[in-house]
Amino acid sequence: MQFPQALETVLQTLERIREQGAHRPCASRRALEVLDQVSAVRTDKILEGHAPSCPKNNLGADSAAPSTTNKAGKLAAVQSRVSVCTKCPNLASSRAQTVFGVGNPAAEIMFVGEAPGADEDAQGLPFVGAAGQLLNRIIAAMGLKREEVYICNILKCRPPNNRDPETSEMETCSPYLLKQIELIRPKFIICLGRISAQWLLQTNESLTALRSRTHTFKGSTLIVTYHPAALLRNPGWKRPAWEDMKLFMGLYEQSKQEKLT
Ligand code: URA
Repeated sequence: MQFPQALETVLQTLERIREQGAHRPCASRRALEVLDQVSAVRTDKILEGHAPSCPKNNLGADSAAPSTTNKAGKLAAVQSRVSVCTKCPNLASSRAQTVFGVGNPAAEIMFVGEAPGADEDAQGLPFVGAAGQLLNRIIAAMGLKREEVYICNILKCRPPNNRDPETSEMETCSPYLLKQIELIRPKFIICLGRISAQWLLQTNESLTALRSRTHTFKGSTLIVTYHPAALLRNPGWKRPAWEDMKLFMGLYEQSKQEKLT
């Protein structure tokens, strides 16, 4: 068994013991940090093709603002866990593979969709189908490169027949997204569509009510716009979607100016 699978098994067992109640496993914050660190270092080694070795216990070096390499290593560790996740047995058995996320680990801008579709499930990458092609065009029109931003979804598995994610699935899967947000710490989160916006903001407000203004999510400025798949179905929404992007670009420019001064 490879290290990420072994770690996943340990974590799932600890969660099961915790859910069963009587003897709650007790792990200090420091112990959990060490586990995280071990996981990140080992995953780095595995990805580089080296045999896993014992990591140095250098927790002190992990500053409040992790370096890009650090972020990439930690994201890779989370990705390894996601790749063997079976917490939603129906999704785990029907998926071809998980779709974690793609882009710059130090991105200032994160796009969040709802869940992978058929193309994403086949390629293991978010937004690579028709909606993804439109998202690429939107990103380019904003003067950005896809590699500069980070793109991911609430769910890391494709729901069968592209149905909407169920609340229980979003509850189960969102710790992975929260970890991505915590590690990347984007300045801006752009929610693509009602489902990701309502989930992150924990609201039932309509997409119309959520657009055209800014929200805050864990220190990031959050903006809501149409899902690109909705724009493909209703091209008339492209103009208001562009207004959303202009709102974002104004804020992004302002943040870059503030960094210079
Ligand atoms: N729709 C989404 O919400 N996410 C994808 O990755 C693709 C389509």
